[in-house]
Amino acid sequence: MSVRITLLPGDGIGPEVTTQAKMLISALADDYGLSLEMESALVGGAAIDEKGDPLPAKTLDTCRRSDAIILGAVGGPKWSDPNALVRPEQGLLKLRKELGLYANLRPVRVHPKLFAASPLKPEYLDGVDLVVVRELTGGSYFGEKVEGDKFAMDSCTYTREEVERVVVRAAHLARSRSGRLTMIDKANVMATSRLWRKVTVEIMESQFPDVKCDYLLVDAAAMFLMSKPASFDVIVTENMFGDILTDEASMLVGSMGMLPSASLGSGSFGLYEPIHGSAPDIAGKGIANPLGMLASVAMMFEHSLDMVEAARRIESAIHQCISSNECTPDLGGNLSTGQAGAAVRSRLDGYIPTGVAHG
Ligand SMILES: NC(=O)c1ccc[n+]([C@@H]2O[C@H](COP(=O)([O-])OP(=O)(O)OC[C@H]3O[C@@H](n4cnc5c(N)ncnc54)[C@H](O)[C@@H]3O)[C@@H](O)[C@H]2O)c1
Repeated sequence: MSVRITLLPGDGIGPEVTTQAKMLISALADDYGLSLEMESALVGGAAIDEKGDPLPAKTLDTCRRSDAIILGAVGGPKWSDPNALVRPEQGLLKLRKELGLYANLRPVRVHPKLFAASPLKPEYLDGVDLVVVRELTGGSYFGEKVEGDKFAMDSCTYTREEVERVVVRAAHLARSRSGRLTMIDKANVMATSRLWRKVTVEIMESQFPDVKCDYLLVDAAAMFLMSKPASFDVIVTENMFGDILTDEASMLVGSMGMLPSASLGSGSFGLYEPIHGSAPDIAGKGIANPLGMLASVAMMFEHSLDMVEAARRIESAIHQCISSNECTPDLGGNLSTGQAGAAVRSRLDGYIPTGVAHG
């Protein structure tokens, strides 16, 4: 099989964790005999510095010609002037929109070894295994904006079709897991949320009667994510609520560096990135945790390349590394980014498929 992957390292720790992604992909490509083409391109602040544009046309073109994209992170203090006309984040938002990547899957699973790294008590963390499906190309991040000293506006808009397609994807995911979905909105205040609620009720009743769907207001959901996180399975929500709730959920696992994400459209093409930002406070120190990025690579193998075994091998290797404390300092370990990446690669063969006897 021939596979074309675009690497967008971006800014801050983005290039550091992307290097580890590249090495992991190469290792698995060798194992499975993939004919692999990987090309790097500019995005974010690095692209502003070189081309004056956070998403140069050449980058977009390279992405369009690939089977999957791996993205590090964009942004940083150098480009954070609020009066600047071009900002790194614009590159990321445009990329998602241009490529029609409307569903962002963010799994959160807590390894028992990391209970101590979380600010929550262990009894709250036991059994946490949830996925947030965040709508990615609508809502207030993309609506009409007015920016001034005396008045500012971010309009939040959603169409029925935008809601339908992401709810259907989340419902299918819920059906493949425990059969439970939670839709999170602010239907007591926001018109867009009432559209979300109406469309979701219709879809669930007509197409997914076997999936149990609960509805929660976002303020209550923020509270329950901390007080009973193990009660959630699949969550579906709009763009900004999903952005905030998944950062909150990252605290369940103790570090921003742990969580992966997949941004998907209607086909198999996807963009894969850890949920963390460019972490300017640790950039260049060689201590960034690469596990969120490497788990994103696992999601790429599963969703874009249909190589489920490769995905499970990566997840298992990450699990083994955490179990044996082969981790970066944010998780209480003492490995560098490069050493942590190497540790994951060295454990790829430790995967034992479910149902295979061992002893
Ligand atoms: N998708 C993206 O590219 C993305 C997402 C969020 C923020 N950002 C941008 O990143 C910049 C910094 O944002 P921020 O500080 O709010 O969020 P951040 O995620 O970069 O960092 C938050 C905290 O988590 C730590 N952290 C993050 N990733 C880590 C990792 N892999 N290993 C160890 N520790 C890690 C950082 O050191 C920091 O203390 C801003 O310019 C922001 O706009 C980009």
